This record gives sequence, structure tokens and C-alpha cells, in this order.
Amino acid sequence: MPSPLPRLAVLVSGRGSNLQALLDAIAAGHLAAQVVGVFSDRPAAPALQRVPAPLRWSRDARAFPTRAEFDAALAVAVAAAQPDWIVCAGYLRILGDDFVARFRGRVLNIHPSLLPKYRGLHTHARALAAGEREHGVSVHFVVPELDAGAVIAQARVPVLADDEADTLAARVLQVEHPLLVAVVRLAAAGRIAEHGATVLLDGHPLFTPLQLDSTGHLDHSEPRSGP
Ligand code: GRF
Repeated sequence: MPSPLPRLAVLVSGRGSNLQALLDAIAAGHLAAQVVGVFSDRPAAPALQRVPAPLRWSRDARAFPTRAEFDAALAVAVAAAQPDWIVCAGYLRILGDDFVARFRGRVLNIHPSLLPKYRGLHTHARALAAGEREHGVSVHFVVPELDAGAVIAQARVPVLADDEADTLAARVLQVEHPLLVAVVRLAAAGRIAEHGATVLLDGHPLFTPLQLDSTGHLDHSEPRSGP
């Protein structure tokens, strides 16, 4: 009997283009996994509409008396979906310590900066204000501290002279999608693990993040004949 596909729970707050990239890769046969639930702190998030209703869970986080109570409800719902991996794909709410502890080592986040630079919000504007020549996106393991977990892989883009935050964001978004798919492919294949502050790839420590190349592949991790 074929082994069951790895199960992905995806956390979203907004548009959901990264979720769509995962769905498209699965549909195209480029990612051997299944999305078993999409979870949001914003019931109006357009991302929810990208999956059938039975896969959607959302609650208005602002309606909960405390952050911990919302996180507890989210954790129950996510656990019920029995995910192998939890992917924060444009999830704009900080996950509390209890949530992170419960699922530690199985939670990935995509963050639009070259971490450890520019944790938090407004990364594109901050990179421009700092005069960066290069910017990009990281996928990392989630730890209790915001955007501070071990970085698995990054993709880089140039900053152009006439860039505004929105043009730079659009350029970064183009590489977010292949980066997220490539990292989730590694996760689903059981090739990455969190070991303290270090990422293990195929059981070996990764001393610098993998880099997405111009063909959309991660260096040293995938056969070139892949999708
Ligand atoms: C992306 O830029 C992601 O890196 C950031 O929020 C944005 C979400 O975009 N965390 P989408 O909802 O996936 O389209």
C-alpha cells in the first residue's frame, strides 16, 4: 500500500498567494503532500476561499478575551487535522509560546526578508530605508521569539534604484512562491529537522541557509531533473 501523503496545515491571514503556490504545486504533481486544513485569525481572509469549505477554519482573533485563548482554540483545530507540518504562509499573528511548544519542530514560516535582518513588519520599506542593495525572503522554523528560528532557505532579489516598497514586495513575492514550495517539498520528504538553533538536512547540520537558484531549486538539496 502506498504511504499516505504528508499532511499540511496552512495558517493564513490575507490574500493567500503562498497557499495557492502550494496548492498549485500539489495539483501539478510537484509536491507530494496534501493540504488538510487552512486556518485563519481573520474570517474574511481571501486565502480561505482557495480551499473547499470543509478544509476551512477561522475565528476572529479580536473576539477572544486573550491571545492565549485564541491560540488554544487554534491549537485544538490544528491538532484535529493531524498535520505533519504546519506552514505559516502569510499568517500575520504571533503564535504564542504554548502553541509553538506543542508543535515545535513542525512549524514553518515564510518571512519577507533575509533573516536575521528585518524581523517583524514593514520589511520592504525598512530594507529600502537602509539602502540595501539586496533583499529577499526566508523560510524558517518557528520558535517563541518572533522571526527568530533557524533559517532553512532563502531567496534573494536585487533592490533597484527606483524601487518603492510595493515594487520591491512584488519582486520578492515572485521568489517567495518557489522558495516555499521547495522547502515544503524537503519537509514533506522528511529531509529537514530542527535541532536547537540548527537545521538538519538529511541528518547533517546546515551552517548557512540553502539558497534558491535561478531555476527555482535549492542548492545541494534537489536533483536538477526535478520539477
Ligand atoms: C508574504 O509576503 C509573506 O512573506 C508575508 O506575508 C505575505 C503574504 O502573502 N509573511 P500571501 O497572503 O501568501 O499572498
